[in-house]
Amino acid sequence: MIHYKELGLVNSRELFKGAIKGGYAIPAFNFNNLEQLQAIIGACVETKSPVILQVSKGARKYANQTLLQYLAKGAVEYAKELGYAVPIVLHLDHGDAFETCKACIETGFSSVMIDGSHLPYEENIKVTRQVVEFAHQYDVTVEGELGVLAGIEDEVSAEHSSYTRPEEVEDFVKHTGVDSLAISIGTSHGAFKFKVKPGEMPPPLRFDILEEVEKRLPGFPIVLHGASSVPQDIVDEINRYGGKLDNTAGVSEDQLRRAASSAVCKINIDSDGRLAMTAAIRKVLTEKPSEFDPRNYLGPARDKLKELYKHKIVNVLGSAGKA
Ligand code: G3H
Ligand code: 13P
Ligand code: ZN
Repeated sequence: MIHYKELGLVNSRELFKGAIKGGYAIPAFNFNNLEQLQAIIGACVETKSPVILQVSKGARKYANQTLLQYLAKGAVEYAKELGYAVPIVLHLDHGDAFETCKACIETGFSSVMIDGSHLPYEENIKVTRQVVEFAHQYDVTVEGELGVLAGIEDEVSAEHSSYTRPEEVEDFVKHTGVDSLAISIGTSHGAFKFKVKPGEMPPPLRFDILEEVEKRLPGFPIVLHGASSVPQDIVDEINRYGGKLDNTAGVSEDQLRRAASSAVCKINIDSDGRLAMTAAIRKVLTEKPSEFDPRNYLGPARDKLKELYKHKIVNVLGSAGKA
């Protein structure tokens, strides 16, 4: 057993308290490789923002869980070396089963999500409570989910979404003991959230549901998944350099700002980072077809990613200066 405190990590409890009190959201950025981690930590140190490093089950498979554990420890030291020890949470994103959550807790994660949102309500309560009982022995915080987001992740996938039912949230929190709750208010995972014709706006999020949840759980940390904005300029850049991503839109920054200033204190962003890296890599390889040193395309990809994260932190989530 490696406890997260030995790695210099923190759980999400105090960060969420600050976020709720201050009307901002903590960034939860997914990572699978070194460049993404460098970009996240660089952006958070420069903006003095706390951060949640998210690892999906797919990321654990891709990057190897032992390497990830050492990368997270490295992230803590890297932040210090860059000049500011921002608080860092290592979080399992969309944990699919008790065993996955347990394995992460035993290898240094400070926070886990158990995603039972696709299960019947009572089963969701059962598995979530099981994870909470194990996690809390080690002061690891737990995120549960009610309501289903559409989109594909490795193990937890759903074709159709269903909004969170506000009338269930108090009972769920009471019976599971979760520390935060992910809800479904119209976002979905991936870069194809809303199919739009050029110039068309995607439908607004269901803030009425968020407000009802907030009324029923005053001061309780709410999590927003599927919060990428799918920036049009990045999509255009990908397409300009040989890609093909058409008629897609994400969640507008105005809506994210509104969410961040409410009970939403954790905002999950993965797809926008994937798009930014892809745009930078395509640009280099198109403009310099003879390039074959990965540092010369992964480096610009990392720089673009860092700028994107800084923009999110400073202009959208409001977490700059909160570390
Ligand atoms: O919500 C899911 C994240 O974007 C992780 O995606 O399962 O492909 O790593 P992944
Ligand atoms: P996006 O696909 O919108 O970036 O959402 C990521 C996410 O919710 C990770 O859990
Ligand atoms: Zn998610």
